Amino acid sequence: MTAPRATGKTRISETEHSEIEPLRQRFGEIGQGHVFGLWNDLTNEERVQLAAQAGQLDLDDLQRRRESVINPSPPGSDETIEPASAVTLEELGDRERKRLANLGEEMLRAGRIGVMVVAGGQGTRLGWDGPKGGFPIGPVTDRCLFEIQAQRLLNLRKRYDVALPWYVMTSAATHTATEALFTDREWFGIPPEDVRFFEQGSVPSLDLSGRLMLERPGRIFVNPDGHGGTLTALLRTGTLDAMEQRGIDRIFFYQVDNPLVNIADPVFLGLHETSEAEMSCKVIRKLEPMEKVGIVARVDGRVGMVEYTELGDEERYARDPNGDLRFWTGNVAIHILNTDFVRRVASDPERWLPYHASMKKIPYVDSDGKFQEPAEPNGHKFERFVFDALPAAHQVCILEADRTREYAPVKNASGGESPESARNKLSQEYRRWLGEAGVALPDTDALIEIDHSRINGADDAAALQIRSIEQAPDAIRTSPGARS
Ligand code: UTP
Repeated sequence: MTAPRATGKTRISETEHSEIEPLRQRFGEIGQGHVFGLWNDLTNEERVQLAAQAGQLDLDDLQRRRESVINPSPPGSDETIEPASAVTLEELGDRERKRLANLGEEMLRAGRIGVMVVAGGQGTRLGWDGPKGGFPIGPVTDRCLFEIQAQRLLNLRKRYDVALPWYVMTSAATHTATEALFTDREWFGIPPEDVRFFEQGSVPSLDLSGRLMLERPGRIFVNPDGHGGTLTALLRTGTLDAMEQRGIDRIFFYQVDNPLVNIADPVFLGLHETSEAEMSCKVIRKLEPMEKVGIVARVDGRVGMVEYTELGDEERYARDPNGDLRFWTGNVAIHILNTDFVRRVASDPERWLPYHASMKKIPYVDSDGKFQEPAEPNGHKFERFVFDALPAAHQVCILEADRTREYAPVKNASGGESPESARNKLSQEYRRWLGEAGVALPDTDALIEIDHSRINGADDAAALQIRSIEQAPDAIRTSPGARS
């Protein structure tokens, strides 16, 4: 199949020609001259766009990444990996939990907290055509991921009498559609001045021999720069400055595809503060050695992340004297970051935020201008990961979260980590809140959904002083036909 072409070619002017020639030459010198290989077939507009895109590329960075795919450094160095110490649910007694929650609530009331969601991913595995945050996930209604999160924010705004701004990171792939969704849904009830979108960067992909690829004859193929791109985007877009001007010095970070996330959990905030941490992580207890989750650990003495593919068998299967996994601290990408820490890391991305290459099938235009859809991985996409900032922190605090209560990822279309498993987990959590508040529950097969803006925990449920769910029809829904 031949790629679609614009028609109406015009000749590029002499002036533009003299500006573009050095660029073409430079690309030729670094083995990337093919980018201009279809130049003669481009319209004037396409030429100008390609020259602008090529002119903006950081060629030193490109060279480094090219080198990294041609001559990858050997994996499995002699790093020492030790478990990182984490505060477990078991050791966090009621009294301490209350003390930390009080401290976190004070931070919230003082307006020190900004809530940030990363929503730049493309949801390829889910197969959803649109921003993932718009995916309907309510167990009973079609409330989308963003709406459930917005309802939690609305509850917290009221509870702590604070604006609690929401920072939504998008990418070139999701930005326009995300803004349109928020506008269409009237910002899910949050005042627009308390929602700020900012766009992450993108980075050119490379083929297996380190050459740039063309998405179409006049455009270089780029991919979003990963959730670690958040940190550089916060700085580059002025979002970090805007946060600090509002008095925010702590950022609660989470991923859009976890509808169970306990946004701005006061206990986590309080622990972060008393630990004098610069970055904190919530972790879940890994269920079995082969579970595909990265581990927060001590790597050569500093807290960092070890991806599940990088954990050796010795560590993977190691157990402590109680028979529990030694490396159990599974990363679920829920963090607290200090704004001054973000500034420090984002100001030196080459040091702290390396690109990670992963092989993917990348559709491209070949040297004859023909569109190709590869059957096998044919190139590398490059991403930065937010957890790479961990070793830069002078102090990191790690808190265990109950995986059944705070983690319901929506990654795949079916099976594990799917919409179905997430809806069941949400419903289970709502049952728990209502059960603790003494509300009669419908039969166990029935799904329950709660409006978080009214009920955001068992305490809110108890405050309603109801005995049956029919007494709060606006706040609680059950799947049709359920009986209590
Ligand atoms: P994932 O990689 O798990 O999800 O990103 P995805 O990108 O949405 O889906 P796949 O991999 O294509 O199937 C985890 C979180 O990080 C965000 C995603 O939006 C999600 O909240 N993310 C990921 C970004 O914001 N930017 C990125 O470049 C990558």
